[in-house]
Amino acid sequence: MSASRAALVCCFFCLVPGVPGTLRGPARAHLTSTNMDLVFRWEPAPGAPTGLTYSTEYRSSATPFRPGCVKISTPECDLTPFNISVYGMYTARVRAQLGDQGSEWVLSNNITLDRETSIGSPSVSLLSIGENLELVIKDPKFRVSRLRSVYSSATYNITYWKKNQENKARNVPDVQQNRVILDDLAPSSEYCVQVQIHTVKNPKPSFPSEITCGSTAGEKESPWVAALVVFVVMAAVVALVVVVVLRWKRISHFLCPKHVLPEYFKESLLDPPSSSLCFVMQNCPPVEEINHQVDVVPSARMLEEGDPLKAVESSCRDQLQTPGENRQHVSEETL
Ligand SMILES: *[C@@H]1O[C@H](CO)[C@@H](O)[C@H](O)[C@H]1NC(C)=O
Ligand SMILES: *[C@@H]1O[C@H](CO)[C@@H](O)[C@H](O)[C@H]1NC(C)=O
Repeated sequence: MSASRAALVCCFFCLVPGVPGTLRGPARAHLTSTNMDLVFRWEPAPGAPTGLTYSTEYRSSATPFRPGCVKISTPECDLTPFNISVYGMYTARVRAQLGDQGSEWVLSNNITLDRETSIGSPSVSLLSIGENLELVIKDPKFRVSRLRSVYSSATYNITYWKKNQENKARNVPDVQQNRVILDDLAPSSEYCVQVQIHTVKNPKPSFPSEITCGSTAGEKESPWVAALVVFVVMAAVVALVVVVVLRWKRISHFLCPKHVLPEYFKESLLDPPSSSLCFVMQNCPPVEEINHQVDVVPSARMLEEGDPLKAVESSCRDQLQTPGENRQHVSEETL
């Protein structure tokens, strides 16, 4: 009888909707943050029935509880998209549900994001610059805001060592620039670096970067030769540009030779055909191999012998009669 009475009592409680205490609350509810996210996790109570769902709420120190993920089946809720502030202190709570039953709320720890978030590892690359190595550091990406916005005075702690000599590692703390030249290195050697971020607000340093290695160049001359070649090429280009700029007038005249005609040529070409030369030339009918006629220029001999135009005029006349002979004639006269 007592067993059936117990079953009845149980049935009564089971049928009352949402009565607290009928389901055991989840265990180990905790808030964590990495790179400024906010994630709420818990574990199902030992011996919890299958088919449970969970509902969560969260609050900051300045606000009442607000709903987070509702009726989820996974024991995890990412609260990052719920408009969280990087300076906020957050608390969350979770309860299990099965049909109409619900457990008590289970509270999480508090977390103050900027002081407690785990800062991820920076990414590091090494560039070989002759005998030096240039280290380029990239901050981890934050889910909310940026590392440099939250931690304006973040610094890098750089550790580097010659490969296989980790016990002789050198340390450069408090570096603010994200590009650093390591210049006390031996040539033709492989070095490895690891970087960690330190902030004032967050007592935990970041996760260390991956160990990254790079080699220094061997030849002392090679960077000089390269620099010299670059310098010579640059100097040649600059000289060329200067020459072009200074001599532009000449160069443009050379490229457009019509401008280079002497003034008296221009004048005589632009004059109306008043000169007898022009007149005569116009009256000459086109002839084969007329280039001989273009050769007609006043020579010293012709000037001595008299008016060269007359000679041309007569040659034109001859040409009309016997073109073959006349070519000879003209060239004799003019040359
Ligand atoms: C986000 O939070 C800020 C302050 O915490 C509030 O002023 C703002 O209205 C919120 N925005 C939304 C979309 O909830
Ligand atoms: C920098 O990192 C090295 C190696 O991880 C560590 O020993 C040293 O204490 C750190 N320096 C600072 C200032 O935190």
